[in-house]
Amino acid sequence: MSRATFVSKIGAIAAAAGSAVGLGNIWRFPSETAGGGGAFFIIIYLGCILFFGVPLMLSEFIIGRSSKSNAAGAFHILASGTKWKYVGRLGVLSGLLIMGFYMVVCGWTLHYIFQSVAGTLSNVPDFTANFEQLLQNPLKQWILMVSFTFLTAFFIISGVKKGIELSAKIMMPLLFLILIILAVRSITLTGASAGIDFLFKPKLENLKPSVFVDAMGQAFFSLSLGMACMITYASYFSKEINLTETALQVSVLDTLVALLAGVIIFPAAFALAQNQTTITSELIAGGPGLLFITLPGLFDQMPLSALWSTLFFILLAIAALTSTISLMEVVTVYIHEEFKLSRAKSVLIVTTAVIILGAFSSFSSVFFKALDFLTAKIMLPVGGLFISLFVGWHLDKKIIVAELTNENSKPVGVRFIKGYIFILKYLAPAAILAIFIYGLVG
Ligand code: TRP
Repeated sequence: MSRATFVSKIGAIAAAAGSAVGLGNIWRFPSETAGGGGAFFIIIYLGCILFFGVPLMLSEFIIGRSSKSNAAGAFHILASGTKWKYVGRLGVLSGLLIMGFYMVVCGWTLHYIFQSVAGTLSNVPDFTANFEQLLQNPLKQWILMVSFTFLTAFFIISGVKKGIELSAKIMMPLLFLILIILAVRSITLTGASAGIDFLFKPKLENLKPSVFVDAMGQAFFSLSLGMACMITYASYFSKEINLTETALQVSVLDTLVALLAGVIIFPAAFALAQNQTTITSELIAGGPGLLFITLPGLFDQMPLSALWSTLFFILLAIAALTSTISLMEVVTVYIHEEFKLSRAKSVLIVTTAVIILGAFSSFSSVFFKALDFLTAKIMLPVGGLFISLFVGWHLDKKIIVAELTNENSKPVGVRFIKGYIFILKYLAPAAILAIFIYGLVG
């Protein structure tokens, strides 16, 4: 069976960046930051990106490109007859469960596109009540999530490459631009500086013990790590691509988008708050609604608000789509290659499973939150831990060197390679385990 490759360099980076940048950055990052008490969360988050985010992305790239196979098949090829294949299977299951709640948020984005286009968003008297109204209508949420799931399935069936490249080349820069405009508007509101302080000035009284687990989970979630997503994408990478550079570029871009989202949401949340004395505790106690409540308020402070919100939510939906495509692709290719079913049948099976899970998430916020917690805070870090151990201890060093140097065509220092393997063998696993243990006892 011949497998497609991302020929151009931009194609590879685009696909990986398209997977990483999504609702995780713009919706999940702000609410986790709020819940984690602000600046401390961000510092630990950045530490996680640096200590195991980038190295693990590189590991997934190495596994994917050297095996040229799907999540589970990769471990079969590189470690035939061993139990490592369960790491791939765990990843596939994580992907399915993530879609089970992520698609619901994608559905919310659609709802906000419709409200923006219809002009009703700028007329609602209370943005919190407006969001809660949506939450109180599970059937509507489910219909929206099913629509988004079908949209994703459509792209998977019709071959993803072109769509993703186009989105990355045009939509992502546009999204970036609008985020910068929104950030400028937000920090120039009167009273915005309290939000900047919340984001960047660590305050001990805001610190919660769960902040380490939260930040670690967010790092995995945002970089699409720990579930073999980047393994599957890297299986399409051509041999010219510099894996180290790509992992760095994608991680930096992803982190910038998340920080920008923070710089938009928090100054606006503080500046537009009804009650300045309770806003910090409200934010910390907050929930998944932050983006959808705060942003309409910010658009309200801009001329042509309906136009801005339409543009923003459309771009957000596209960013989410390139992420859901990567999630669905992993599960689909796994079924297609491991069970020898046609691609169409595989997509049908995955779609059905996702909309069933999505029904539960739409009707029960407890289920929604449980899926989010289980995947981001447990399954992805566990997957990442094993991927780190796999490349550090099990994978043939020759394969690692060949992948890092593009078959010796590109010089890479011995110290770099040794240091990298040391991180995977000891540092990253120890850090992940320490955070887990702290989370259990803290
Ligand atoms: N990283 C994406 C986001 O931030 C979501 C995502 C796509 C993902 N593929 C993934 C998360 C794989 C974990 C694993 O929105």
